[in-house]
Amino acid sequence: MPSDQGVPDEEPLVGDGVTPNITRVGDTVRRPFRPFTATIQAYLSHLHRAGFSGAPEPLGIDERGREVLSFVSGDVPREPLPPEATGENVLAALARLIRRLHDAAQGWTPPRDAVWATLPGTQDIPFVDTEAELVSHRDYCPGNVVFRGGLPAALIDFDLARPTTRIYDIANALYWWAPLLHPEDRTPALVEADIPHRAAIFAEAYGMSAQQRRALVPLAIRMIHRFHLTSRAAAEADPVFRRFWSEGVKDRMPRAEAWIAQEGPAIAARLTHGPP
Ligand SMILES: Nc1ncnc2c1ncn2[C@@H]1O[C@H](COP(=O)(O)OP(=O)(O)O)[C@@H](O)[C@H]1O
Ligand SMILES: [Mg+2]
Repeated sequence: MPSDQGVPDEEPLVGDGVTPNITRVGDTVRRPFRPFTATIQAYLSHLHRAGFSGAPEPLGIDERGREVLSFVSGDVPREPLPPEATGENVLAALARLIRRLHDAAQGWTPPRDAVWATLPGTQDIPFVDTEAELVSHRDYCPGNVVFRGGLPAALIDFDLARPTTRIYDIANALYWWAPLLHPEDRTPALVEADIPHRAAIFAEAYGMSAQQRRALVPLAIRMIHRFHLTSRAAAEADPVFRRFWSEGVKDRMPRAEAWIAQEGPAIAARLTHGPP
């Protein structure tokens, strides 16, 4: 809404606190322009042209040099996940949304001068998703998923998008939403959850191939180990990540590594043999 001066009001949007100065202006969102912004906007344009409606539409740059995106209506959950965001129907809807994203992203070739983001201080830590098949989101934390009618309907915050594999993206989504975490680190409603069963619900809804079902757990083990390394390195390089580290990540990551080493075989068995 315009204010008395005819200047549109800016409503600050605060998510997980990583990106400062995000505001809503009417039906748009303004975010700081970063080195990777033009690449991500090209990707979002492709998704829009391919008919994928579950991502913000890129609307260029405003008069203050900020990136402009369409505002995606709905509710964005925060950690700890509220009970209503922990149902199996939520997991299945997220899997279908990510499958549609993958199908829309398939075949897009990034520009030759593409620039991708890395977390602060992590440029020397090798990626575990190097055999790229497509460009995808790669960061399905609750604050990046928009719900409508109680189900995931859209994805926002494509800052960590880059060339990746479908199975990496799936492992990332399961890390947050199964979740692939020690019971002590889960939202209360999921402390006693049957994680192999939840992984199988996701696999079914996504339509994971036999090869993807076999690849998931080995990749998740490597991904969680890398999360541990990158979150520690980012904490050394940046005060926001230092706060995440000291407020819990420093304990959560070693517990997640120990948990997936122990429970991974049961997840793999359910994905490759058992009923969903
Ligand atoms: N295009 C958008 N549509 C609707 N809400 C958005 C949009 N972009 C950001 N937001 C809101 O702002 C919050 C922070 O934005 P996000 O891009 O996720 O930044 P951060 O890098 O801090 O996670 C989101 O969790 C969401 O609530
Ligand atoms: Mg975010």
